[in-house]
Amino acid sequence: MNYDRRPDDMVRITTPELAQAYIEEQVQALRAQIGDKKVLLALSGGVDSSVVAALLIKAVGQQLVCVHVNHGLLRKGEPEQVIEVFRNQMNANLIYVDAVDRFLDKLAGVTDPETKRHIIGEEFIDVFAEEAAKLDGIEFLAQGTIWPDILESEAGIKAHHNAGGLPEDLQFELVEPVRILFKDEVRVVGKELGLPDNMVYRQPFPGPGLGVRCPGAITRDRLEAVRESDAILREEFAKNGLEGKVWQYFTVVPDFKSTGIKNGKRTFDWPCIIRAINTTDVVEVTVEHLKPEFIDHLVKRITTEVPGINRVLFDYTPKPPATVEYE
Ligand code: XMP
Repeated sequence: MNYDRRPDDMVRITTPELAQAYIEEQVQALRAQIGDKKVLLALSGGVDSSVVAALLIKAVGQQLVCVHVNHGLLRKGEPEQVIEVFRNQMNANLIYVDAVDRFLDKLAGVTDPETKRHIIGEEFIDVFAEEAAKLDGIEFLAQGTIWPDILESEAGIKAHHNAGGLPEDLQFELVEPVRILFKDEVRVVGKELGLPDNMVYRQPFPGPGLGVRCPGAITRDRLEAVRESDAILREEFAKNGLEGKVWQYFTVVPDFKSTGIKNGKRTFDWPCIIRAINTTDVVEVTVEHLKPEFIDHLVKRITTEVPGINRVLFDYTPKPPATVEYE
């Protein structure tokens, strides 16, 4: 089977049996391609890179070296989950890089959205390349490229993107074991490989992470307010059966303050914006209408539990005219 292109007659992987067959086929193909050599993978903890990691662990075990870069813009609990699932449960060869200070120092005072994105992307490449340079005998680079990436790249919609836009001058041969799969198939395969549901069915999360949800210059305290409010929102969506039903939901903490009252005292704090949307193609999105009691509960929890927040606002704007993210 040619794994470069998805065969026109390929059956959509929708069942555990089809997923198992794909996994078996890929494991054989990966072993044949890699032999006794080493493979490097940037493991963000997102669906695609996690499934690639799980497939490679099954195929070549310790010959896979995973690098997880914590850039400080991940959601609450994400780095811990990557370590727990891959190092502790799957016994992966995992290098954890705490690059939080490095990223946040570089981003300090930077307000322009494109510059922020650029810094995050560049810094990621630098950190990853530095880690790669410390390792001997790596011949392959694994990537979580999926079939829509190839289609969009061919259609000129976006430049071919991979796990964080890895350096092209790293002279490795590519390993792309989910290249011919659609996203829903990657999830079925991931579930079959034993990855936890909250990893397999997670909502989309932008590469620059919480950085684009902390509009303007990122400060550590405001970033923390984004992270904590996002964690509450995700917890409440899961508790209320909305996880996996609503396409994407998140919080944004803009860089302005307003007056409020807490414990009888005046406050001057940030608002927290909640955005919950549905879409099939992400070109046009509609807003999820939440129940009034649920909204009240979210407002109460976020204003009580998140330091620095004294108001909660709801963004009810579809796309277009608004984009999903704020930057
Ligand atoms: P926008 O804001 O463009 O977002 O309407 C559409 C979808 O894309 C996600 N998004 C990104 N995903 N890297 C990604 O991998 C990025 O830089 C990025 N920016 C936006 C966004 O979360 C939404 O699902």
